[in-house]
Amino acid sequence: ELEKTLALIKPDAVRAGKAQEIMQLIELNGFTIIAKQKMQLTKIRAEEFYGEHKGKEFFPKLVNFMTSGPIWALVLAKPGAILAWRALMGPTNVFKARAEQPKCLRALYGTDGTQNATHGSDSPASASREIKFFFSALSPAPVTEPA
Ligand code: CMP
Repeated sequence: ELEKTLALIKPDAVRAGKAQEIMQLIELNGFTIIAKQKMQLTKIRAEEFYGEHKGKEFFPKLVNFMTSGPIWALVLAKPGAILAWRALMGPTNVFKARAEQPKCLRALYGTDGTQNATHGSDSPASASREIKFFFSALSPAPVTEPA
């Protein structure tokens, strides 16, 4: 059934001028981009977004990278969007991606072990949390009875 996922185009790909090309590929692969926003994360926001990785050795480098320039946050819709988007991105590690799936987005647009061009939610629970994180306006406040 139709499913939503949160995608990020990360600072390396935006800096390289590849954001529009990546969005075209996303649509060519059957996703609908139902919301998009270019923005720059603060350190506080990046640390919150990647909270599950706090304490890992790569965490400071990851936060430094994700705050190094503008990103695009996208909400993608398609049947099976979460898995389909992860398949289109390919392996997290760009060197592995280039070796195993040379046409995937991370192989084509990623830079190295940290700077891997794109992000995607890894489960329905993450997708829900991550869409709210970037697009809270899509979650309207509950309608209340007049006083
Ligand atoms: P992403 O899918 O956004 O989720 C967490 C990010 O941390 C990942 O992409 C990479 O950018 C980064 N990352 C994950 N593992 C490592 C690692 N071992 N070394 C450096 N960066 C990593």
